[in-house]
Amino acid sequence: MRHLLLNCGPIAHMAHGDVQTPLVGKDLVDRDLSVHSSGLGILMENGKIALIDDSESLQTEYGSLHDEDSITDCQGRAIIPGFVDSHSHLIWAGDRSNEMRLRQSGLTYQDIAKMGGGIGKTVAATRSSCFSDLLNRGKERITRAISFGTTTLECKSGYGLSVESELQLLEVVNKLSETSVIDLHPTWLGAHDFPKEMSHAEYMGQIISEQLPAVVEQGIAKWTDVFCEPGWYTLEQTEEIVRTSQDAGLPARLHVDEFEDGGGLDLAAELNCASGDHVGYSSLEARARAAQSGTMQTFLPGTPYVLGKQLQLPLDQCLNENWQFSLASDFNPNCRSLSLPFVGSLATHRMGISPLAALAAVTRNPATTLLREQTDVVAGSIRIGGPADLLVLHGEDVDHWCQTPGDNPVAITIKSGVIVNS
Ligand code: NIG
Ligand code: FE
Repeated sequence: MRHLLLNCGPIAHMAHGDVQTPLVGKDLVDRDLSVHSSGLGILMENGKIALIDDSESLQTEYGSLHDEDSITDCQGRAIIPGFVDSHSHLIWAGDRSNEMRLRQSGLTYQDIAKMGGGIGKTVAATRSSCFSDLLNRGKERITRAISFGTTTLECKSGYGLSVESELQLLEVVNKLSETSVIDLHPTWLGAHDFPKEMSHAEYMGQIISEQLPAVVEQGIAKWTDVFCEPGWYTLEQTEEIVRTSQDAGLPARLHVDEFEDGGGLDLAAELNCASGDHVGYSSLEARARAAQSGTMQTFLPGTPYVLGKQLQLPLDQCLNENWQFSLASDFNPNCRSLSLPFVGSLATHRMGISPLAALAAVTRNPATTLLREQTDVVAGSIRIGGPADLLVLHGEDVDHWCQTPGDNPVAITIKSGVIVNS
């Protein structure tokens, strides 16, 4: 099956150098390295990119259609890779819209959690939902993510906090994977919080001796995650969970330093985790160490945004220091946006980095953290032989992707060569 894109505007291919490594430093802002000029076409065949060439030549050579083939005239609109969202809490039930006014009355995220809101409230709503209800919520959210241009999506459990419920959440993600047109990467986050019905020590015992072995045996997660933060999981508990997971063949990506510098990114780097996520308050030393150990710093600006905090994430510093970094949605009951264009708007309009650097941070860079084996299927860039995951924007400049806050810049989402958002 072939799909031909003709009359492409500029193409942000992001394929400079080795696509299995992140773009850093000056390479992130060099348009000559990452953007093809207008006038090209893209031939996609059997889910892969077969050719990128002059549009007219491709039309002459491949423009006559067979039954199952299709042609899209891009009319000069810009093309970028499909987004890779490397941090989402996709599956949960309930509603926490009331927490906004609690915060406005002066309560913090931690206060609200202690009062029975926060993660605990979502756990109660999620536990009382059945498999098919959670499945339907997942389907609807995936459709929305696709409309915003996401073609690869990491999905965490973490609102079950019991053996049965955590396994069910991962089963939902695995079930969704069977029919979803985009790639889903399930992550086990049993250590998202502590359930009310047992002591912390008892729950740690369940995590290590029951949840983890079941997750590994059933092969239903690719990653382990822990909410490593003062007030939730300590460095010692996090280390125990990560080392036990790694020994069982499950690598880790961690929530760290969201509200304060608890040494989480330093631990993530020491344990060679794929990524440390949030990293709002991590120390400079930890950031440098993460860069050295190949641990991605993944910033989630949607969360401080909804919590009413200053957006002071050191994206600029990462650029200047050649540290690899990514951006992701952190879609969760408290931050209900699956839109990476919205995250791109926060990064460019509010934190001053260039749209091209922000684009690498939601495409090629996070794709490198989701690699489990070295293969030619690595997403996040547009190159011959690579997956045909790409977006046609409404605008004619590649920077359009993050410049329409509140509005969707994505006209067409293409996954494995097929239009999936219409
Ligand atoms: O990444 N901070 C931990 N987990 C989520 C939020 C969870 C929630 O508030 O339900 C996060 O921001
Ligand atoms: Fe999160």
